[in-house]
Amino acid sequence: MKTSCAPNIRLENLTIGYNNNPIVKDLNIEFPSGKLSMIVGGSGSGKSTLLRHILQLQPPIEGKIFIGNQDTSNLSNRQAHCIRQRTGVLFQDGAMLGSLKVKDNIALPLREHTKLKDEQIMRIVEDRLSLMGLGHALELYPNELSGGMRKRAGLARALVMDPQVLFCDEPTSGLDPVMSAELDQLLLEMMSHFDMTMIVVTHDLASMRGLADHVVILGEAKCLFQGNLEELEKTEDPYLRRFLDRAAEDRDAPRLTMPPIGPDMMKRNCDDIMGAKDSARKGEQCSN
Ligand SMILES: Nc1ncnc2c1ncn2[C@@H]1O[C@H](COP(=O)(O)OP(=O)(O)O)[C@@H](O)[C@H]1O
Ligand SMILES: [Mg+2]
Repeated sequence: MKTSCAPNIRLENLTIGYNNNPIVKDLNIEFPSGKLSMIVGGSGSGKSTLLRHILQLQPPIEGKIFIGNQDTSNLSNRQAHCIRQRTGVLFQDGAMLGSLKVKDNIALPLREHTKLKDEQIMRIVEDRLSLMGLGHALELYPNELSGGMRKRAGLARALVMDPQVLFCDEPTSGLDPVMSAELDQLLLEMMSHFDMTMIVVTHDLASMRGLADHVVILGEAKCLFQGNLEELEKTEDPYLRRFLDRAAEDRDAPRLTMPPIGPDMMKRNCDDIMGAKDSARKGEQCSN
């Protein structure tokens, strides 16, 4: 089995949130070195919040985060800088700067962190973009890319410094199922190209089942599960079973209590303006 030089990430008694209000409590989790871990949970369960804390963008309310052997709670500025330098992030929307061409967006981390000459930088940029199937997009601006291309360009930028740790927040959100499957495949290929610990946040169960070596499930303000897919599929925990089987939770969904807004409440009578002829359009009761 391949041994990895990438660090593991450990959370010890970690409580996270904003302004001292906990969102997820008492996490004791290990993301194994050189593996692809997924943080899964419903919307609002605290997945992005956890990512922001591991990225040191937010201080924990309580507890500690270790990257390898490094306790991140008391880093000097220089140490924090070194950790950032070895960490890649693919943000939810790709987070490309609209005023810069794709090639200059990808070059940003190299210009910030290395002494490389522009010619060498451009060679690396071209290399990463062709790895992502975007060799033709160097001179384009981000708003000239499709959603899937923007994600791939964001991934090229996240990988440009050969990171030891890569974080991806909802990489398939906003993509159709075919593009989602392609992006998942690309993430798997990147795992074989680079020796890194990857943490992917998702609410996409198909991605989880296709990619994860290790799964962490958040819900009810805590960690509901950590382990591999095989262990997860065997769970008898009712909340997890409902989540995995996607049981219809909408039975409890709120119902409309107000009637639709009738034509008589409108400022303009669109039926008259548009010359609507059929009675249903005129706000009268539809027969079926
Ligand atoms: N900057 C913030 N300040 C205060 N509360 C926030 C902030 N960002 C997110 N939250 C709250 O934290 C909770 C978890 O949000 P988030 O981590 O974005 O969930 P997820 O990524 O799982 O959908 C939500 O209730 C959200 O309203
Ligand atoms: Mg989120």
